[in-house]
Amino acid sequence: MHVERLHLKNYRNFNEIDIDLNRKLNIFIGNNAQGKTNLLESIFVSSIGKSFRFSKDENLITSDQDHSRVNVKFVRESDVKDIEIDFFKGSKKKIKINGLSLEKYSELVGLTNVVVFSPDSINLIKGSPVERRRYLNVELSQIKPNYKYLLTRYNKILIQRNNLIKKILENPKSKKMLPIWNEHLINTGTDIIMYRLDYLKRIGMLARKIHEEISGGTEILDATYKSNLGKINGLGKDDIKEIFYRKIEKSLEREIMRKSTLYGPHLDDIEILINGMDSKFYSSQGQKRTAALSLVMAEIDIIYEEKDDYPVLLLDDVLSELDNNRKNYLIRFTDKIQTIITSTDDTDLLNILREKNKKIFYVENGNIKQIME
Ligand SMILES: Nc1ncnc2c1ncn2[C@@H]1O[C@H](COP(=O)(O)OP(=O)(O)O)[C@@H](O)[C@H]1O
Ligand SMILES: [Mg+2]
Repeated sequence: MHVERLHLKNYRNFNEIDIDLNRKLNIFIGNNAQGKTNLLESIFVSSIGKSFRFSKDENLITSDQDHSRVNVKFVRESDVKDIEIDFFKGSKKKIKINGLSLEKYSELVGLTNVVVFSPDSINLIKGSPVERRRYLNVELSQIKPNYKYLLTRYNKILIQRNNLIKKILENPKSKKMLPIWNEHLINTGTDIIMYRLDYLKRIGMLARKIHEEISGGTEILDATYKSNLGKINGLGKDDIKEIFYRKIEKSLEREIMRKSTLYGPHLDDIEILINGMDSKFYSSQGQKRTAALSLVMAEIDIIYEEKDDYPVLLLDDVLSELDNNRKNYLIRFTDKIQTIITSTDDTDLLNILREKNKKIFYVENGNIKQIME
């Protein structure tokens, strides 16, 4: 699948742009703060429905406007997905695919696939568990439609159960409602955990291979699911439910005190080790970046396995930070999948990509010009 055309209106610092992309390699060059990341972000938004930058929908609208439009045409052989998202100040976004409105925005996710590697990807290693859970949720939602449904359901259950816990403090009688919510929590929660365990097993193996290759065989990467239920990796669904149940049963007093649900996938994490040591605390900046790169590149393989098609690869300002080994690893992908690269530095990049069929664009203050080669 590739992006054929990108049309933005009042999107961040773009007034209006309309560009046709090369089906393989596209390079956007420009100084800082000209709109390069905004442009990549808009492609991600058209696939996932929201930004990869933790931004609110309203931030995507040009600051003195009240409406913005992202229109991206994805093509795979004869299959066209023309995605149009309208963002409004003060009301919900509207999404159309090939002219037809979507009822729920979650229906958008998974129709097209993108993978992004940016300077922020290092937060997969350095950042808080929230960021690793978000990564899992975005990736799994792209490939498993049922996961999106479970996640929405789980979040609703969590809100209900937390409300009930708060009520118990004021009125102990409401405790009789708890078993029902425990059951919902455990059933849906365990389904989510099963998906995540399986995903990490697969991505862990793929990322390990990639990491070994780009580190020249000197580093071993381990990424495993870390549940706050304890050691559950390798267990079956019924065993996990049983452990979940026992934890919940024992923690009610504490839950009432803390006014929240203390066990479940909403608190889980990914443990990432390099050569057996926790990468968050023991690895260098460069090692962290390589680990993040390996995890992100492994997504490409998983998407291919699931969808029988490659995603669009978005590389935001990352090539200049990588050494030649890592650069060459990334550039190899550009032969088989559409890659959209942004960079401030053109000479080095254009030198490496000299032989490739590509389009080059220059970004300046929200304007885009294609440079003829
Ligand atoms: N909602 C918005 N309205 C207008 N300008 C915006 C909005 N959001 C971001 N910008 C502007 O976009 C520019 C940053 O663009 P960005 O794509 O991050 O730059 P870079 O080329 O360095 O990647 C900044 O000048 C910022 O002020
Ligand atoms: Mg940028």
